[in-house]
Amino acid sequence: MAVIGKDIFVAKELLEKGQLVAIPTETVYGLAANSLNARAVARIFEVKKRPFFDPLILHLPCYSKIENYVEYIPEKAKMLAEAFWPGPLTMIFKKKEIIPDLVTSGLDTVAIRVPKHPLTLELLNQLDFPLAAPSANPFGYISPTQALHVEAKLGTAIDYILDGGPCEVGIESTIVGFYEEKIVVHRLGGLSVESINNCIGEVEVMKESVSNPVAPGMLKSHYAPKARVMLGNIEDQLGKYQSAKTGILSFRKNYNTEGKFQQVILSETGDMEEAATRLFSGLRQLDSLHLQYILAEFVPDQGLGRAINDRLRRASAIENDF
Ligand code: TXA
Ligand code: MG
Repeated sequence: MAVIGKDIFVAKELLEKGQLVAIPTETVYGLAANSLNARAVARIFEVKKRPFFDPLILHLPCYSKIENYVEYIPEKAKMLAEAFWPGPLTMIFKKKEIIPDLVTSGLDTVAIRVPKHPLTLELLNQLDFPLAAPSANPFGYISPTQALHVEAKLGTAIDYILDGGPCEVGIESTIVGFYEEKIVVHRLGGLSVESINNCIGEVEVMKESVSNPVAPGMLKSHYAPKARVMLGNIEDQLGKYQSAKTGILSFRKNYNTEGKFQQVILSETGDMEEAATRLFSGLRQLDSLHLQYILAEFVPDQGLGRAINDRLRRASAIENDF
């Protein structure tokens, strides 16, 4: 079983030996390996059961290290880095040779971010290689926002989980790509589109393509719990799914006035940041009760709410064609 601890020297030694370590970030926990060691990176895919066509994100301790790994930096990427790194923003660049093809799934681009977590930043500063790290969950399952979430699903496959407490943002980074004509958000995430627009002008939000996902977080039924997530008007659905095996994931409202259901309220005050931090742990909490259905509702589609709605849609993808 994995040891859960706060010792960055233990983490450093394992990573230097080519082993995997789960690391905390402000978004979700990552399953990290030396990104310049293809064998270590291959272990990530093996442990997650992740398809090789799904490229990984490179984590750096600071912006100034980026030139070792990318061919050039678009002006607007520089502006975004200055404004939001360290933070929940991943950007896609033309990659340099030094990065193994396995990290980028053979693409000539690489996704990079500087995570905002003191333990992980200290660890990255002590390593002489960047960390490749996808979210530390089995492929297709809900991302982990606490060390115990990682242990529950991957505890037998890795040796060490660096415990940085619960993730402050709770939803994965926003992914942005730069093209000649336009700038595109490939994945909605912990940095709102409004914040990006305010910094560099209007960007486009990519419409997902299931058959050809550019960012496989785009795969339709990603983040899916075992229970079926029924997305819609909770009040209307309650009559239909009235059984002990039904749970509720609501935004603000208490639908459980008679105490009949298991319920998670994302934020009673309607605070979107609080809702984001509770989303994945709420889904996990309900899923651990072996429910048949989770009734969920959309949150207002603004700011982080767009990313929350995106994850809810994916969690319910079996039922909803969107
Ligand atoms: O917040 C996060 O981004 C977390 C933490 C651990 O940093 N990581 C994360 O990684 O969510 P992962 O592997 O679950 O999602 C990474 C996404 C994938 O959907 C992948 O397709 C996309 O990044 N990606 C990676 N490289 C890419 C590239 N060169 N072009 C387009 N998308 C890329
Ligand atoms: Mg993931």
